Amino acid sequence: MTTTIEKDAALSVVNLSKTYRNGRVALKSISFNVRQGDFYALLGRNGAGKSTTIGITCSLVNKSSGKVYVFGVDTDEDFGLAKSYIGLVPQEINFNQFESPWNIVINQAGYYGVRRSEAVEQAEKYLSFLGLWDHRNAMSRSLSGGMKRRLMIARALMHDPKLLILDEPTAGIDFETRLFLWEFMQVLNKQGITIILTTHYLHEAEQLCRNIGVIELGELILDTDMKTLLRQLNQETYVLDLVKPIHTLPHGLNETARLNDETTLEIDVSRGNSINSIFEQLTKSGIHASGIRNKSNRLESLFIELLKIEAKSYSDGDRKWIGWNSVQSHYTPWPERKLRDSCESGVRH
Ligand SMILES: Nc1ncnc2c1ncn2[C@@H]1O[C@H](COP(=O)(O)OP(=O)(O)OP(=O)(O)O)[C@@H](O)[C@H]1O
Ligand SMILES: [Mg+2]
Repeated sequence: MTTTIEKDAALSVVNLSKTYRNGRVALKSISFNVRQGDFYALLGRNGAGKSTTIGITCSLVNKSSGKVYVFGVDTDEDFGLAKSYIGLVPQEINFNQFESPWNIVINQAGYYGVRRSEAVEQAEKYLSFLGLWDHRNAMSRSLSGGMKRRLMIARALMHDPKLLILDEPTAGIDFETRLFLWEFMQVLNKQGITIILTTHYLHEAEQLCRNIGVIELGELILDTDMKTLLRQLNQETYVLDLVKPIHTLPHGLNETARLNDETTLEIDVSRGNSINSIFEQLTKSGIHASGIRNKSNRLESLFIELLKIEAKSYSDGDRKWIGWNSVQSHYTPWPERKLRDSCESGVRH
């Protein structure tokens, strides 16, 4: 992984480390570059170090060591200039909830030295566009969660930043608004704004982002472009809805297919293999499908593979959380447990 500053990068993070005062090591010398004009996904599990990286970039968190450059500006040397390039949508709601959206965005513009007349124009544009115009004079506390998040996006755009950093902007956002925000982010990106996005919705990252960095336990374990990454997927699973019920698998598909129920067939297709031959086999056996879909999001499949591998290398107890893949071996569904515990304690139902 690169440790050099890329010329013309919107963001260069070099050997960045962070240990919080309580001793928690959040970042272990991570380095990456985000090119100008890029749409970059910064992914990783809860507690991986994404927000810490963003916090340091925006000087909300003090780094322990390393360097951060924003459009070539060393944040240690001229943080004011570096900061003027950045628009931040933080993970946590951090505006004064007793102020109105109008005041919040206008004050933000003032903070960045935007002229009043320009600020008013920007406020009108973004509050309208983000569906907050009718609420502009309300107390922000009264906005819904999704509206508050949109207000933070409007606020981040008030000074026309060249780099927009969005830390989980679509968390808790309804489906329709999410689609709207996807489109909005794409428009901003097409206008030339570099975007860094953190999200736990991998489908979102796959849809929007060209490059991707994955942080795990404070280390950057992957820094690549989305296309190359998706090409590594060894196998995809398709789910077929069958026109008529079947009770046994067709000849030749025993190894790769499973019947979920009598009208739902799941088939694994290895990379490089054609899906046509599978359809030929099905047709020969008199089986017809009325619909087909990908079982899981492709990036999600890769992510699971990747983090399973990483989990092994941290089996020294660094990661206390048992992780999703061990849940099955630890967990007894509650009705069963309740029944068993009750039986053991002699309670009768
Ligand atoms: N102020 C703090 N003091 C001490 N430890 C902290 C502080 N902020 C974060 N941490 C710890 O640093 C690590 C990285 O946290 P961070 O918030 O950067 O993770 P994240 O990748 O953004 O996670 P999430 O997806 O849950 O938002 C975690 O172990 C977290 O508990
Ligand atoms: Mg975070």
